[in-house]
Amino acid sequence: MQTADRLNKIPPYLFMTLRNKINEAKSRGIDVISLAIGDPVESTPQSIIDALCKAAQDPANHPYPTDEEWGMLAFREAVARWYQRRYNVTLDASKEIVALIGSKEGCHHFALGVINPGDTVLVTDPGYPGYKPSIWFVGAEPHAVPMKSEDDFLPNFEDIPTDVAKKASAFFLNYPNNPTGAVATPEFLNKLVEFAKSNDIVVCYDNPYSEVVFGVDRLSFLGTPGAKDVGVELNSLSKPYNMTGWRIGMASGNEDIIKAIATSKANTDSGIFNAVQYAGIEALDNCDDHIVTMLETYGRRRASIIETLRGLGWTYDPPKGAFYLWVPAPKGYTSAEFCDYMLEECAVVLAPGAGYGVNGEGFVRFSLTVSDERLEEALTRMRDKLTPFTF
Ligand SMILES: Cc1ncc(COP(=O)(O)O)c(C=O)c1O
Repeated sequence: MQTADRLNKIPPYLFMTLRNKINEAKSRGIDVISLAIGDPVESTPQSIIDALCKAAQDPANHPYPTDEEWGMLAFREAVARWYQRRYNVTLDASKEIVALIGSKEGCHHFALGVINPGDTVLVTDPGYPGYKPSIWFVGAEPHAVPMKSEDDFLPNFEDIPTDVAKKASAFFLNYPNNPTGAVATPEFLNKLVEFAKSNDIVVCYDNPYSEVVFGVDRLSFLGTPGAKDVGVELNSLSKPYNMTGWRIGMASGNEDIIKAIATSKANTDSGIFNAVQYAGIEALDNCDDHIVTMLETYGRRRASIIETLRGLGWTYDPPKGAFYLWVPAPKGYTSAEFCDYMLEECAVVLAPGAGYGVNGEGFVRFSLTVSDERLEEALTRMRDKLTPFTF
């Protein structure tokens, strides 16, 4: 059977590989604890579930979704209120916002709406594995921009060769960062706008962890002067409101790009179930308290992991964002070898840094999205079974 050549470019999805490892160990009767995957284990706040149920009872919500290619105006207005309240960013709901089936979907429609075949598109390395397939699918080529620990895992624009910067048409990046947990600063975002303007590059600023920050201010790219001239921000209800399975998010910013994304969506899907959009309105308007609790939960888990790592010899400056800890592998181990060692010794699964790009080698990623009990069990195993490492 013929399948498209473009699929040959796509490496096995990292998390499929991890899931296979977990299932294989479980089939051997091992009690595996996964700290590899970033998917909240707490349930969605009750008022959001109630809003869904109420809207689902109303037959008016059963046909194709309202304003299908843009999302319900009422949802987009809630997005505008949320950005105003939480980020001091003003958006016009009628033309600067489009609803998404999650931020991952948004990356794909950004590529379809903005990038041409043959284009060069910048992505960070290490980086979220979701961007490259979207770039390949539209016949363009990704170009890796290294992120180094000495630069706080922020791309150094001066290191991007001038010819690459000149020919690139777009740049995908995300802070608070998956996988490194690094956060952007207002100075960095100013430089990003400057870089995009001077090289005529469209920015796809993917910000699904915008609410997950520790001890620093949350930031929207759209709060940077000139940001709307050069790009859009993707955001999502998945991570802040424990709604990964609900599939709802938003793209906001430059109205031409938003229109391009909406056009691509109009010719692909038929929008998001109205009842899910009503639930999204409840999340955006009424769940600020939940964010406080969510940050306490992840803050507590983060502190426990850091304490255990320090006890095992890591001298480690933790990142300030996202629900990940990006930790150097001990001396003598590649990232994959250290993950295998952790699985063998402790039955704990970590994500190997090399799965996020060549510059991810030498690191492993711990995720905070596991229950307190299971995390404590994983850390107890590490303290009991491992002897301190050298670095
Ligand atoms: C950087 C980044 N972008 C996008 C996504 C996908 O998020 P969503 O559930 O909104 O599609 C993830 C999920 O892990 C992510 O880490």
